[in-house]
Amino acid sequence: MAVNTAQLGLDLLGVTPATTLLVNGGTTTGGFAAVPLARLTGARVLTTAGPTHTEALRATGAEVTAYGTGMAERVRELAGGPVDVVLDVSPHDDATIPELLRTVTDPHQVLTISNLSQAHGSGARDAFTEGPLGHRYDVVGECSQLAAEGQFGIPVARIIPSPTGVKSSN
Ligand SMILES: NC(=O)c1ccc[n+]([C@@H]2O[C@H](COP(=O)([O-])OP(=O)(O)OC[C@H]3O[C@@H](n4cnc5c(N)ncnc54)[C@H](OP(=O)(O)O)[C@@H]3O)[C@@H](O)[C@H]2O)c1
Repeated sequence: MAVNTAQLGLDLLGVTPATTLLVNGGTTTGGFAAVPLARLTGARVLTTAGPTHTEALRATGAEVTAYGTGMAERVRELAGGPVDVVLDVSPHDDATIPELLRTVTDPHQVLTISNLSQAHGSGARDAFTEGPLGHRYDVVGECSQLAAEGQFGIPVARIIPSPTGVKSSN
């Protein structure tokens, strides 16, 4: 699901090898999918993250900076100016969309899949109001191949044990 959502977001933004893209929330499940998928297109990818997974994201070729206060300035400095487009997959935070709008020249260049209510009225795009999202499960096979080669992965945050007596269907 994360791979599908991430690829649909990149499609809606029209990412090409000439694009400089910011993935806001590189260590969310959507972000861990969107960053390598965007790199596969040949795009320049900047992403925001905390320190835990910075090196893993850098290994994909992405340029990483911290989220939080001052993020827009850090992104513009890293990019050498405004970025072309932003895919926002970060957890809900009231400060996010206003901050992201300062990384671009036109609000329409920001697409969010998570901060939906903030996007409304701001000029930023909300992926879920742009019509049926469709499916891009075709990229799952490519991601599986990359995972087998150690070049793709979404970290497991927590394993929830099955209740006693419930057997796995696998
Ligand atoms: N996964 C999907 O397919 C999908 C589909 C539709 C919508 N969504 C939406 O996407 C959002 C993210 O969900 P998720 O489950 O993928 O993520 P998640 O697992 O909840 O993400 C947690 C990570 O987000 C990072 N983070 C925290 N605050 C941040 C901020 N202000 N800016 C950027 N990164 C921040 C932290 O990374 P560090 O450890 O690096 O600090 C944290 O570990 C949710 O609102 C969800 O509803 C997800």
